[in-house]
Amino acid sequence: MSTYAVTGSASGMGRETARRLRSEGHTVIGVDLKEADGVADLSAAEGRRRAAARALEVSGGKRDGAVLAAGLGPTRGRDRPHMIAQVNYFGVVDLLVAWRPALAAAGAAKVVVVASNSATTVPAVPRRTVAALLAHDAARAVRSVRLLGPGAPTMMYAASKIAVSRWVRRHAVLPEWAGAGVRLNAIAPGAIMTPLLQQQLSDPRQAKAVRSFPVPIGGFGDSSQLAAWMCFMLSDAADFLCGSVVFVDGGSDAYFRSDDWPRAVPARHLVGYLRRFRRGV
Ligand code: NAI
Repeated sequence: MSTYAVTGSASGMGRETARRLRSEGHTVIGVDLKEADGVADLSAAEGRRRAAARALEVSGGKRDGAVLAAGLGPTRGRDRPHMIAQVNYFGVVDLLVAWRPALAAAGAAKVVVVASNSATTVPAVPRRTVAALLAHDAARAVRSVRLLGPGAPTMMYAASKIAVSRWVRRHAVLPEWAGAGVRLNAIAPGAIMTPLLQQQLSDPRQAKAVRSFPVPIGGFGDSSQLAAWMCFMLSDAADFLCGSVVFVDGGSDAYFRSDDWPRAVPARHLVGYLRRFRRGV
């Protein structure tokens, strides 16, 4: 039986994944604001340090995997962009950096980061916001959406999910991750009926946008479906999965972006491609 850390374990998809793992006999170290083994506020650096240390203490320096599901939705509020950046991006990346040695010590650890199909379906997300997050500059990221007014939380939300997906893909293939046996992947859910989505549905303006958003399969997903995917991504069946972003969104990403991917390497990238090819992993 394995030991996993699950952030956002008190609600929604994190809670359902933790429940499922425990029911399979695994040990789960939950991290959340409440009702968790590691009670911590991931919106502050100190809380992230405490959460990372607590989980390492419980798992004894060796961990078979982690699910990073803690997150905040794009609801309104002046401070919301700051909070979204802190929890959705730094609350993932800082914990993973702290946990990497314990994951590597397990030999074949698996990590699932909960991203979102907002990363590919929200139009005109500022590139400078994504770049600031990837540069670990939270203040610059928040400044970059300030002029967007009521649209700022939505843009920061999508930017945080683009940045975290890109962080996963950049790091998954490195010697410190793939080379150390750690499989790092992301899942990109569409609208899933959880308290986060319910909060959006309780705001009439957001509810209209959420309900009219095209979902080819129709309706909303539910936490247990997503938990099943995440447990699969933690299982031996996912040993060859590395750096993938798995969309489980009822088809919205395919609907809006059908021809954007897969795509051949553009001719203008050929020199960089060949350099990388020759360098090897
Ligand atoms: P949820 O609201 O049910 O659960 C999120 C959990 O994160 C809660 O238990 C909450 O306490 C915890 N959390 C929030 N701020 C925290 C903080 N500062 N410190 C520690 N824990 C904190 O939401 P849900 O829907 O289960 O979301 C899970 C993940 O899935 C999030 O990253 C969200 O962005 C993502 N997602 C959700 C979608 C949806 O439609 N529900 C769609 C796509 C992605």
